[in-house]
This record gives sequence, C-alpha cells and structure tokens, in this order.
Amino acid sequence: MSTVRHASISGVGSALPDRVVPNTFFESLVDTTDEWIRERTGIRSRHFASEGETTSSLAADAAARALKSAGLEAEAIDLLIVCTITSDRPMPSTGAYVQARMGMHCPAFDMNAACAGFVYGLSVATAQVQAGAADRVLLIGAETISRFLDLSDRSTCVLFGDGAGAVVLEASEDPGIISSRLELDGTAGELLTVPAGGSEEPASEESVRQRRHVIRMNDGRAVFKRAVTGMAEACAGLLDKAGMTGDDVAVVIPHQANARIMNAIADRLSIPREKLFVDIEEVGNTSAASIPIAMDHAWRSGAVVPGDVVLTTAFGGGLAWGANLLRWTAPTPEGAQAAGGAGG
Ligand code: ACO
Repeated sequence: MSTVRHASISGVGSALPDRVVPNTFFESLVDTTDEWIRERTGIRSRHFASEGETTSSLAADAAARALKSAGLEAEAIDLLIVCTITSDRPMPSTGAYVQARMGMHCPAFDMNAACAGFVYGLSVATAQVQAGAADRVLLIGAETISRFLDLSDRSTCVLFGDGAGAVVLEASEDPGIISSRLELDGTAGELLTVPAGGSEEPASEESVRQRRHVIRMNDGRAVFKRAVTGMAEACAGLLDKAGMTGDDVAVVIPHQANARIMNAIADRLSIPREKLFVDIEEVGNTSAASIPIAMDHAWRSGAVVPGDVVLTTAFGGGLAWGANLLRWTAPTPEGAQAAGGAGG
C-alpha cells in the first residue's frame, strides 16, 4: 500500500418501510392535490414507518444489506456513524442502538447536518480512514421524518419520507472518495427548523398543542433558491479542485428534495439531466438517508458501475450543504455475488 491512505466504498444497502403513502393520502388532510405535488416536487409516493419501526431499525436493515454487499461481517467494522435528525431518542445516540441491534462492538456516534448529513458524514468517515483511525467504517443515513411532520401543514407534510441507506468505507490504495466540500450558514437556521423539543424550548403541553416539535419551513421558495445555488457552487468548486469538468462525471446522485431543484443543478453545471440519478418519485425527501438510498438504487439498477466518477450533493437545515466527488469502487451486484457478497 502507498504511504497515502485512501478510502473507497466497498458495499451499499438501503431499507424502506413497507408502508407506501401515495400523494392522495394528503388530499383528505390538507388543501393539496396529487397533481400539484407531482408537478411541483416530482414525488408520487413515499414510505412512512409503521408502529415499531424506528430510525435505528431501518438503519440496521440498511447496514446489514451494505455489509452483505461488501461480503463483510459486522465485527469487521471499526467505526459506525449514523447521520440523522430523527434519532430514536435524544439520548443515547442512534449509533448506540444500531450497534446493539447488530451485535457490534465498535464505537459509534451520530452526526446532524440535516439533509446534508450524508455528505458531511462521508467527509468525516473518509478522514477517519485517511488518518489511520479506522480501516472500515459503516456510514449510515437514516430517518423517520414522518414522526416529525405536521400533517396539517401542506408546505412540509407532502415532501418527506422515511428510510435508511448505508455504505461501507474501506481503506484503499487508490482514492475512491476524491474530495468533499462542506458549507454552512448558521445565520439562516430559522428557514428550516424543529422549534421545540430541545434545550431552548423543552417539550411541554404547550409546545405539543402548538405543534412546535415538528419540522417548520418558513420560506420554501427561499430554501429552493438557496438549495440550487449552494449545491451547484459546491459541485463546481469540487470539480475545479479535481481538475475535472461535468464531462468527466458519469452519474450525479443529488439529495432527492425536489425534481426541479435537481434539474436546475444539472443545468447550472452544464451536465445533461440524463446523468442525474433520481428516485424521488417513490421515495420523497428522506433527508440524510436520501443519497445513500439513491446510491443503493443506482447500484442495484446498474446506473452506477465500477470506475464511474460520481458527484453527490445535498442541502438542508442549518443551512448546511456540500458535495462529494468519488470514483465508484463497489463491484457490480453480480460481481459482489460471485465474491460471496449479495447481488441486486
Ligand atoms: N399543495 C398545494 N399548494 C401548495 C402546497 C401543497 N402541498 N404547498 C404550498 N402550496 C402553495 C403555496 O401556499 C403557495 O400558495 P399561494 O401562492 O396562494 O401563496 C403556492 O403553492 C406556491 O408556493 P411556492 O412555495 O412558491 O411553491 P413552489 O413552486 O416554490 O413549491 C416547494 C413549493 C415544493 C416547497 C418548493 O419551494 C421547494 O421544494 N422548496 C424546497 C424545500 C425543500 O425541499 N425543503 C425540504 C428540506 S430542504 C431540502 O431538502 C433542500
């Protein structure tokens, strides 16, 4: 191995709750239509967790699939990171629950960068491998956003879904993760927030009655504009730094917030929209889980193959955003199966 340690993705997996919630579900709750939701967001349906399902149960299911696709047992993992804004409980961490569910013994912690969680997590996990602190990291994005939705607020309730995605990151001779770019504007936190339930405004009868413990988006249009600008700039900066252009990118796997946001990013980067991997139609916005779920869907469908240059980008509450540039290194589902792992 060369003196420089790199990190590469060796496995990927995802899990969605069984319960499918079509747009028509919201027509009886708020003043909206299936047509409005489809046209303005690209979403047709999403998955909501059922009773008994939690962020950690979905995370563990996705993690088990990622490990299987990498041909690894859980004890091979040195570090577990869960990116989430919907942890099972404020304490202990969701990572602790996942560790226990999977019978693992490695350290674990949670990261919160809202919908940008996985982009942040991939950067941190890569740095852990590069520094020699871990050889194999299990990085998970997992959410049960449905538990933090106001089903009487049409501007948010139609957007989100539940699910989890996971990747295994391993030390490698050649770079899989090429570089990352992380950005944050903490002065704009009010645009997307869960006002109550934290130490500033602890949960109370009043906060529950006023529905202040659920997601509030104070200006959807402003979030839309900042999302497009932020993600396009982060991607352009990463490509510049790597001496690449959009032509070098085989697949863009953006945070699945809105089909129109994804198209606008591709247009700004002069990358053909056909290079976007999009699964928002049936998944919705799963916050930190959205990129690893889409990665798994892209991998299983053959939309991403070994050697592909992949660009991921996300934007969310904080406001936090960023991008990762990577070379896809996990074998195809057929290759993984032949090597004793799991296929598609
Ligand atoms: N059904 C029907 N009408 C709606 C709905 C709905 N579900 N939601 C909003 N509207 C109405 C608004 O009230 C408004 O009505 P008005 O003109 O009478 O005031 C009208 O539609 C237009 O509202 P806009 O906010 O301008 O609509 P827009 O086309 O921007 O779409 C949307 C709204 C989908 C929320 C969009 O702004 C968006 O996607 N923003 C990004 C938000 C986002 O993705 N947030 C998630 C977290 S952050 C992230 O992941 C990037």
